[in-house]
Amino acid sequence: MTLFSYIHLSDLHLCQQPLRKNAVSLWGRRWNEVIDTIGEQRKQWGFSSFFLPASFDPEIAKGVAQFCADWRDGVDGIIITGDLATTGLAIDIGVAEQFVKEPAAFAHLTQSRTPTIASLGLPIHLFAGNHDRYVNNGAKPFSNYFDFIFKDYMDLKTSCVGSWTVEKNDRHLAFVHADFSLSMRLGASFPRRAMAYGQGRVYVDVLDELRAETLRLRSDVDGVQIVWLIHFAPYECGSSLQLHDHQRLIDASRALGIKVILCGHTHEALVKTVASQTIYCAGSSCCVDNAGGCMVHVVDFDLDEAIDVTRSTYVWNENQDEFVFLRSD
Ligand SMILES: [Fe+2]
Repeated sequence: MTLFSYIHLSDLHLCQQPLRKNAVSLWGRRWNEVIDTIGEQRKQWGFSSFFLPASFDPEIAKGVAQFCADWRDGVDGIIITGDLATTGLAIDIGVAEQFVKEPAAFAHLTQSRTPTIASLGLPIHLFAGNHDRYVNNGAKPFSNYFDFIFKDYMDLKTSCVGSWTVEKNDRHLAFVHADFSLSMRLGASFPRRAMAYGQGRVYVDVLDELRAETLRLRSDVDGVQIVWLIHFAPYECGSSLQLHDHQRLIDASRALGIKVILCGHTHEALVKTVASQTIYCAGSSCCVDNAGGCMVHVVDFDLDEAIDVTRSTYVWNENQDEFVFLRSD
C-alpha cells in the first residue's frame, strides 16, 4: 500500500467585499432572513452589490486555513480546483494572493489577521475557475491576471494545462489539470450575458493538450497513475453551471483509462460514477452561496496495481467554529 493524501479545496470565492450575497442566492430563503440580509448588505456595500457575484465568509476562510494547519503533517499537499477568487479583478485576486502567499505571523493568520496557508510547508497546487477568469464583475472572459499572480503554483505545461508528479516507494502519481473556462462570451448559450457567469466549454484544443500531457506522462514515467483535475463538473448540473460538451471529456478520459477526476464549481459535494470514471466534486470551502454547508475534503490515493481513492468530507460547524467530519466516500 502506497498512500498519497491531499487536502482538496474549491470555490473559496475570496473577495474584497466579504459576505456579499447575490440576489439569485436569496431566492427561496425565509423572508425575515432575506430582509435582514438586504438591510445589512445594502448598508455595507450598497444595493448594487446584490447584482455582483457572491463572495466568501471570512470566519469560515479562517477555518479553512486552520483545517490545513491541523492536517499539515498528514497530507502531501493542498489542491485548489478553481474559483479561489470571486473575480479576476486585481482587488479580489489580492485577497486570494494573501491567502496563498502571505507568510503567517500567528499560527495560520497573517500580521493583519487574515487567513493564510503559505507557511504550512505544504506544496500548493492550483488553477483557475470561471470566476478567477472574470475581467470584471459582469463575468467578461478571459482575464489572465490569475496566471500572472499564481504561475508558481500552477505547474503549467501549456497556457491551459498543467501537471505535477509525486513518487513514493517507486510508485508514481501524476495530476493533470485543464482550464475549460470560456475564452469569450460567444461560447455560452443564450442569453449569453447571463450564462457566461457559470458556463464552461470543452474546447477541442484544450482537450488535445490535456490528452497530449497525459500521454507524455505515460511514456516518460513508468507505471504512473494519473488523476485529472478540472474546475467544472463534467456532468449535467443545470444550464447555468453547464460545461458544454462535457461528454467529450468523459469519452477522452475513458479512452485514456483515466479512472478518477476531481472537480468543483457546483458548490455541492458529491461523488458520481460516469461510465468507468469516478468524479469527486468538492463542495465550496467558504463561499456564502453553497449547498449543504461549506466543505473541505481529504482525498487518499492508494496506489497498488490500480488506484484506489477514499475521500473524507468535513463540513463547517458554526457552533464549534471548525470543520467537523461528515462522511467518507
Ligand atoms: Fe464557484
